Amino acid sequence: MKRTPLPRVLLGPGPSSISTKVQEALGQAPIGYLDPELFEITDRIRARLRTVFGTQNAFTIPLTGTGMAGMECCFANLIEPADKVVIGIHGFFGERMAEIARRLGAEVITVQAEWGEAIEPEAIANALASAGKVKLVACVHAETSTGICQPLEEIAKLVREHDSLFLVDTVTSLGGMPVEVDRLGIDVSYSGTQKCIGAPSGISPITVSERAWEVRQRRRAPVEWYFDWLLLRDYYDSPHAYHHTVPVNLLYALEAALEEIEEEGLEARWQRHAAVSALLREQLRELGVEPFGCSANRLPTLNAFCVPDAVDNEAHVRAKLLQDYGIEIGGGLGKLKGKIWRIGTMGSSATPRNVLLLSAALRTVLN
Ligand SMILES: Cc1ncc(COP(=O)(O)O)c(C=O)c1O
Repeated sequence: MKRTPLPRVLLGPGPSSISTKVQEALGQAPIGYLDPELFEITDRIRARLRTVFGTQNAFTIPLTGTGMAGMECCFANLIEPADKVVIGIHGFFGERMAEIARRLGAEVITVQAEWGEAIEPEAIANALASAGKVKLVACVHAETSTGICQPLEEIAKLVREHDSLFLVDTVTSLGGMPVEVDRLGIDVSYSGTQKCIGAPSGISPITVSERAWEVRQRRRAPVEWYFDWLLLRDYYDSPHAYHHTVPVNLLYALEAALEEIEEEGLEARWQRHAAVSALLREQLRELGVEPFGCSANRLPTLNAFCVPDAVDNEAHVRAKLLQDYGIEIGGGLGKLKGKIWRIGTMGSSATPRNVLLLSAALRTVLN
C-alpha cells in the first residue's frame, strides 16, 4: 500500500485537524443505511446541529456532500427559473452563489463590496427597493477568501420587511463563532463539517425554516432528484424510505465531533477561536506580517494576512512550511491569489500550541 502522508498541522482554510476521538469514531464498523440504530444516530446529530445553528428548525439534517453540495441543494430547492434573487458578494464564495443561482435560471442581482470589506446593508436595501419582488437574498457569513465576517442583523431585518427569504452560507463560521439562525431570522443555512465543527469533510449540515419549507412545497418546477428536500425528509424522518447510501462512518465522526462541541460548550468554543486568532495576529505582527482587510469585521476562524513586500515568492514560503515543518497554510483565491495568506484557526486546529509552532516555523522560513 502506498504510504499515507505524515500527519500535518492543518492551519489552512480547511480542512482542520480532527481529534483522536473523531478519528476513532471514523474507523468503527459500518452499519446499514436503514438500520434503526443509524436513525438514532442521525436524530442525535440533528438535535446537536440545531443547537450549533441556534435553531428549532425541524428540517435540520447532515446532508451528504461537502459545503458545495449544501450550497447547490439550498438554492436548487428554492429557485425556479426567472425568480429574482439578490446576492451579496464580498469574496470568492459569494461569486459562487451567484453562479449557482444563474445556472438555476434565476435573475441575479448582485450587490458587491470590495474584497476585504463587508457588504453595506444600505446597498442591499437599495437593491431590494429597485428590484420589485425578490424571492431570496443570500450572502456568506464568513468569507473564507478574505477573512471577513458579514454582519447579518440589519440585512436580516431588511429581508423580512421585503417578505423575501434569507439564505446564509455558514461554512466557515458554524461551531467557531455565533450563528444565530432563529434570533436573526435566517431561513436557510448550509455549512461544512471540516472546519470549525472538527470532523472530516463530506457532510454539509443544513437547516430550513418553516417559511422556506412552505416556499419549497408551493414550487411548481421539479428539483434535482438527489437534493430534493421532500425526498430527503422521507429518508431522515418517517417512513425512512431509502434515498441514497449515507456515509455512515462520516456520520459516526460527525457525532463524535458534535459531542466534543457539547463537552467544551459553545460559548467556550467561540472564545477559544477568538483567543487563538488574536494570538496569531499578535505573533505574526511581530514578524512584520499584517492582517488583510477592514479591522472591524475580521473573522476569528479564518485569518487573512498581506504577503510582506519583501517576499517575492509566497508559494515558496507555503511549500517550505509544508515540506520542512508539516504545516499547511493557504494562499489567496481569485483576485487575491499571490497577495494574501489565509490561516485557519478552526476546530481542533485552533490551539495556542499550533500558533506558536507556525510563528516559529514562519520566522525561520522568512529569514
Ligand atoms: C464560505 C464557503 N462556502 C462554501 C465552501 C465550499 O465548501 P466545500 O469545499 O466543502 O465544498 C467553502 C469551502 O471552503 C467556503 O469556505
